[in-house]
Amino acid sequence: MRAVDIIIKKRDRHELSHDEIEFFVRGFTNGDIPDYQASAFAMAVLLNGMTARETTDLTLAMAHSGSMLDLSDVVDLAVDKHSSGGVGDKTSLSVLPIVAACGLPVGKMSGRGLGFSGGTLDKLESIPGYRVNLSTEEFKQQLKEKGIVLTGQSLDLAPADGKMYALRDVTGTVQSIPLIASSIMCKKLAAGAQAILLDVKTGLGAFMETLEEARKLATLMTDIGKLAGREVVALLSDMNQPLGCAVGNSLEVIEAIDLLKGNAPEDFTEHCLHVSAHMLVLGKRAANLDEGRAMAEKSIEDGSALEKLRVLVRAQGGDVSYIDDTSKFEKAKLIEVVKSPRSGYLSEVQARSVGEAAVTLGAGRAKKSDPVDHAVGFIIHHKVGDTLEAGEPLFTIHANDQAKLDDVREIVLAAHTFSDAPTGKLPLFYS
Ligand code: URA
Repeated sequence: MRAVDIIIKKRDRHELSHDEIEFFVRGFTNGDIPDYQASAFAMAVLLNGMTARETTDLTLAMAHSGSMLDLSDVVDLAVDKHSSGGVGDKTSLSVLPIVAACGLPVGKMSGRGLGFSGGTLDKLESIPGYRVNLSTEEFKQQLKEKGIVLTGQSLDLAPADGKMYALRDVTGTVQSIPLIASSIMCKKLAAGAQAILLDVKTGLGAFMETLEEARKLATLMTDIGKLAGREVVALLSDMNQPLGCAVGNSLEVIEAIDLLKGNAPEDFTEHCLHVSAHMLVLGKRAANLDEGRAMAEKSIEDGSALEKLRVLVRAQGGDVSYIDDTSKFEKAKLIEVVKSPRSGYLSEVQARSVGEAAVTLGAGRAKKSDPVDHAVGFIIHHKVGDTLEAGEPLFTIHANDQAKLDDVREIVLAAHTFSDAPTGKLPLFYS
């Protein structure tokens, strides 16, 4: 077999066999197939799609490209979550401490930013000292001892996805249902999850813009999970406007910490409570969603979720004083409040434009090797449905470069659309 023939076959819209997919994934993982061929392959898949069978084969080949973690000696039931990616989505940073405080041990391996969508690892690295490169042994040990882990994908788990993910970020090949489904599910399978909560985002700031596409992705991922013997629940959640107010690495960490202090935007809080409730049910700590939600609320009220975050940060070498005093996070040099140009009702905050503008400021990468600026981003002060007066703060830009700040001001202003008639709030979940 030759990689080029497999690329040509997909380019010409033919279905790849199980063996061809395995050959390609194995070759890419061990370095026989170079990045440029893997990029061409990803583009051919993006353009021509894959059948459910091909996607399942791709998922399993990527899951088996490294070790398969077995957590049965560490936890009674390994529950994991994954978001399909969005703008301002810092859910894991709050939900993991919440569910861990409710007695459900959780170990999660997260990713970096992808295109306009932020990544949990980039966010976590804004806490000085925080290690995101735990070995598998360290992962298991910490999960057993502390009941909470939030780290990067260890290199021996699904290495094919690790390599492919970095390539897709910079080759315009993120937005493909089979590539997203296989990327997410291979990591969950390799990381030993027995039950998985999928937070599938839909809207202008999601990889799946329409509800129909999001449903397709959710169905494909739940089918793959079931086929692999896992219990999977998928939520379809809104990503037309940024989640919460903060967009950008340290700004989002601060908002996630604020949630655990009972002081976060309502939409983000509601989102996290709902996701936590589902995880507690999946993990058999709550009998139903109402009970799960009440447990999650209590963990915020009594401070146990915040304490779990401290435990997590300390265990991974981070400076815990940043959790207690978020004013310690490094600030951008330039902070500008942009005022509302008019009165009216807010009818749209175009999440993708905000995410792309954050990347322009340096919060994400344009090339694989680009460093990330943790301090830059936005605070979006209003939600769709809000009433605004001309001149009140609309959003705040945190930048480290005047030219970039000037670039994004108009873009984010244009991302806000006003209406003279009242507009309803956006739903948080569709299904
Ligand atoms: N999250 C992932 O892990 N992979 C994708 O392809 C998209 C979102």
